Amino acid sequence: MRFPFPLDAQVPLYLAPMAGVSESPFRQLCHEHGADVVVTEFLSAEGIRRENEATLHKLSFGPGERPIGVQIFGADPIAMGEAARFVSDVFQPEFIDINFGCPVKKVVRRNGGSGCLRDLDLVQQVIRSVASGTHLPVTCKIRSGWNEEMRDPVTIGLRCQDAGARVLALHPRTRTQMYTGSARWEEIAAVAAALEIPVLGNGDIKTAEDAIRMHQQTQCAGIMIARGSYGQPWIFNQVKDLMAGRPKRPAPPVAERFAIALDHARKVMAYETDPRGAAIEFRKHLGWYAKGLHGGAELRKKLYAVTSFGEVEGIFADYLENAEKYASLNSAAESDDALEGMEADAA
Ligand SMILES: Cc1cc2nc3c(=O)[nH]c(=O)nc-3n(C[C@H](O)[C@H](O)[C@H](O)COP(=O)(O)O)c2cc1C
Repeated sequence: MRFPFPLDAQVPLYLAPMAGVSESPFRQLCHEHGADVVVTEFLSAEGIRRENEATLHKLSFGPGERPIGVQIFGADPIAMGEAARFVSDVFQPEFIDINFGCPVKKVVRRNGGSGCLRDLDLVQQVIRSVASGTHLPVTCKIRSGWNEEMRDPVTIGLRCQDAGARVLALHPRTRTQMYTGSARWEEIAAVAAALEIPVLGNGDIKTAEDAIRMHQQTQCAGIMIARGSYGQPWIFNQVKDLMAGRPKRPAPPVAERFAIALDHARKVMAYETDPRGAAIEFRKHLGWYAKGLHGGAELRKKLYAVTSFGEVEGIFADYLENAEKYASLNSAAESDDALEGMEADAA
């Protein structure tokens, strides 16, 4: 299965587009830990067209992030075509990805993201307009449909392919499902079998073993990981180990994990212009890096209160020096239950 840009990996591993997560620093980090391809978070065609400052900042990327796709969304084919042209001319990523999957109300109300899936003629117009606005390959990311009645990923995939999509990523849930239930991997298998272009499987990969199972069950051409990369960018290298038939490298020990978190923080500092805001935004990553640790709840309480990156180093050092005290506080499992509770409250 040929991808429309050069790749070393036979089954490429993608870091999925994630608003507020797959930003430049995390994309760099994931590349360094084995991701073959990364995609920006979704960016509005209107914001790009108007050269909105925040949007352009989110569009910027460094050489260490290639190959990279820029993901755009919008339901106006003309605006989408213009945005694609601007991105191609000014930023020159390897490809332009169109978001047909976002379930958020604010986006679908205007037919953006998965809102487009209610009208497959519109989906095709958008793809054609984007393809005519750029010399770069155009790829699409879809859900299985708008709702259960309209659930038909094979037809949607074929329509995308007919309109010019060169790669298709499928997250096999409907829009109305949001993130509930399970991703139906059998739909990835059906779409991969029906299409001639490479199909990426996405959804519910939490471990390297999950990625291998998905590949075996679906024969997908590539694997896209979103939430499974939270706080464990090394998941990509672990998948690579298993793909190559090697034993999976273990998750790094605590001190190394903290070093990776600090490397991530340094990349954020180099990229963001508002250090305090960036540190506060970074708290969620810190919480994810602390997952699975003894006394994680206590550690997270401190990490969730930081307002500068300088504090993080001290908190990590204190944890490493007082490992026994933390271990006696609560088990890793109890700590993770607390984290999941906090994430559910925030969602
Ligand atoms: C915080 C968050 C932000 C997301 N933002 C985007 C986005 O900007 N564009 C997109 O196509 N999908 C987005 N997604 C969906 C993911 O790319 C992916 O399809 C979904 O999370 C399922 O994969 P997973 O089970 O590996 O997390 C987002 C998901 C999450 C959790």
